[in-house]
Amino acid sequence: MRNSLILCAIASAAHAFKIPFLDFLSFGSSHAVSSDVVPRKIAIIGAGAAGSSAAFWISKAKTASGVVVDVDVYEREGYIGGRSTVVYPYNDTTLPPLELGASIFVQANKNLWRAASEFNLVKNNLTEDDESEVGFWDGEKFVFTMGPSKGMFNWWNSIKVAWRYGISSPKKTQDIVKGMIKDILTIYSPESPRWRNVTQLVYELGWTDFLTQTTSEYLDLKGIQRRFSREVVEAATRVNYGQNVDEIHALEGACSLAANGASNIKGGNFQIFENFLRRSGATFRANTLVKVISQLDNGKWTVRTSSGDVEVYDDVIIAAPFHSTGIKLMPYSAAAPIAVIPPQPYVHLHVTLLTTPTPRPNPDYFSLPPNSAIPRTVLTTNEGVRSGGQEPEFNSLSYHGSMIDGRDEYIVKIFSKHNISDEWLEKVYGKVGWVYRKEWDAYPKLPPTTKFPPVHLAPGLYYVNAFEPFISTMETETVASRNVVDMLFQDHFGTGICGKPRNVENNSHPEYTEQTVFRQPQQARSDDDFVLGFDC
Ligand SMILES: Cc1cc2nc3c(=O)[nH]c(=O)nc-3n(C[C@H](O)[C@H](O)[C@H](O)COP(=O)(O)OP(=O)(O)OC[C@H]3O[C@@H](n4cnc5c(N)ncnc54)[C@H](O)[C@@H]3O)c2cc1C
Ligand SMILES: *[C@@H]1O[C@H](CO)[C@@H](O)[C@H](O)[C@H]1NC(C)=O
Ligand SMILES: *[C@@H]1O[C@H](CO)[C@@H](O)[C@H](O)[C@H]1NC(C)=O
Ligand SMILES: *[C@@H]1O[C@H](CO)[C@@H](O)[C@H](O)[C@H]1NC(C)=O
Ligand SMILES: *[C@@H]1O[C@H](CO)[C@@H](O)[C@H](O)[C@H]1NC(C)=O
Ligand SMILES: *[C@@H]1O[C@H](CO)[C@@H](O)[C@H](O)[C@H]1NC(C)=O
Repeated sequence: MRNSLILCAIASAAHAFKIPFLDFLSFGSSHAVSSDVVPRKIAIIGAGAAGSSAAFWISKAKTASGVVVDVDVYEREGYIGGRSTVVYPYNDTTLPPLELGASIFVQANKNLWRAASEFNLVKNNLTEDDESEVGFWDGEKFVFTMGPSKGMFNWWNSIKVAWRYGISSPKKTQDIVKGMIKDILTIYSPESPRWRNVTQLVYELGWTDFLTQTTSEYLDLKGIQRRFSREVVEAATRVNYGQNVDEIHALEGACSLAANGASNIKGGNFQIFENFLRRSGATFRANTLVKVISQLDNGKWTVRTSSGDVEVYDDVIIAAPFHSTGIKLMPYSAAAPIAVIPPQPYVHLHVTLLTTPTPRPNPDYFSLPPNSAIPRTVLTTNEGVRSGGQEPEFNSLSYHGSMIDGRDEYIVKIFSKHNISDEWLEKVYGKVGWVYRKEWDAYPKLPPTTKFPPVHLAPGLYYVNAFEPFISTMETETVASRNVVDMLFQDHFGTGICGKPRNVENNSHPEYTEQTVFRQPQQARSDDDFVLGFDC
């Protein structure tokens, strides 16, 4: 247990914060757990959105089912959050932190929205703050510029959009996005589908069309103007997923456009994930790299770390993109194989953060006269390349807010496929203060498909990030982990994440306490507020 740190248990946190299942918790804990109950042990690999929320869902599920479960969360880094993490300009923690990875979630992201409010985290309303102009750059020229009053998150009704793209294409596209959001909200309801593999969910949501076509094919068939999908929609798929509309499937294309209620957490989105983990009562094993997961002859699993520590678990949940983990999976015998996770390419993204006193990018770089006001947000389209032109050197450039207090400098964030050199920064911004570069395997490449990685790898071995080639966001990783925890509890205790009224007396599981407390959907909450896993 070297390098490990036990985070405060949920019981102490419960006094300070509003937790809706508190009633059940105190009720449940009045049933003494006899000391000869051997807890079931679960390992979670990864403490990002997926792993931290898996720990949280397990804490909910064990309360609901009255079982005794010990959870260890292994994380190779020293922090919670994974691809959701912040850095400070000049490494000065008195300045506001900047998101280095995942920066935005939306109101339809019910788990994150709800978690933020339960954990008393303060959200920034990005729609409100957004006063920036947006330019759409094709590598050689701006094909379109919009703003300054509408900005990135609110462009549907812009007059300038209507002028270039007509009214019907933006309207129809918006309707497609709204329909997609309406469908996806069913996964927060008590009747949510439970899926053993992602293909099953695609069928249950009736989303085959979304998954089997590229975004451009899908929008073309819906009669949406080519120019609109190739310029505006593509700007969104490129800034959000580093992929073009003729590469990325239509579901992720639609997700790129869902910006209603765009928000982030003041001080960093990672705080949601820290709270998930802390409140779960799980043991956090930071700076601990998992090397091997192997099955024993009794069906249990061992987890071996780089320092040679070995622990035995009943279940293991892998909550990281498998091929990036370097983990070796070893079945006990050929007769009990572990499902193969096919290779999954990720988009390799360069994030460059910098400070500069220059209020706008240099017009000269964009081949415009010196007095031109270049938009403070520049998104890109691949349409220039498709007609034989030069590729944009970046996916997006954006100024973030006003000057940093006490320093006459702005913050700029750049996403690109390649390293951005100091010379390039000087060319575009003139004087540059602090620069921070980070490379991520940011999100999967998302071509049309109905084949997804397996979720259930073997009895007791589960894979959350099978969900990522379907949708890759912080929120959907928390949905995928909820489904995995539900499946694990079904598989082993016959109760899902919410517990389930069933024949408790008939249950022979030693993990059951005398009396099991089942959480029922709370009728008091309106359907709109109900969030499966939180409210049941
Ligand atoms: C630049 C960027 C911008 C993004 N923007 C957004 C956005 O605005 N909104 C949004 O919702 N999403 C966004 N995303 C996507 C989002 O970050 C991911 O979908 C989500 O955070 C993935 O969470 P995860 O827990 O599945 O994976 P991760 O966050 O990658 O967590 C996996 C964890 O596992 C750990 N790990 C890996 N291997 C091992 C091992 N062998 N042993 C122990 N630990 C291991 C890793 O260190 C990591 O902490 C963005 C991503 C990037 C990179
Ligand atoms: C930032 O500051 C922290 C704390 O002082 C320090 O540990 C870290 O090495 C610094 N990072 C960089 C990149 O300078
Ligand atoms: C954010 O601000 C916008 C614009 O003022 C407003 O319309 C919207 O309702 C706000 N959203 C939230 C969730 O507060
Ligand atoms: C997915 O799960 C469903 C339901 O359990 C099953 O019928 C189907 O065969 C599975 N598909 C794959 C590819 O595993
Ligand atoms: C990226 O460019 C910077 C500045 O030119 C350089 O210091 C850094 O090593 C480069 N990184 C990579 C991965 O090439
Ligand atoms: C177990 O459940 C069955 C119905 O499934 C019921 O008939 C039986 O009485 C139960 N046994 C006990 C011991 O309660």
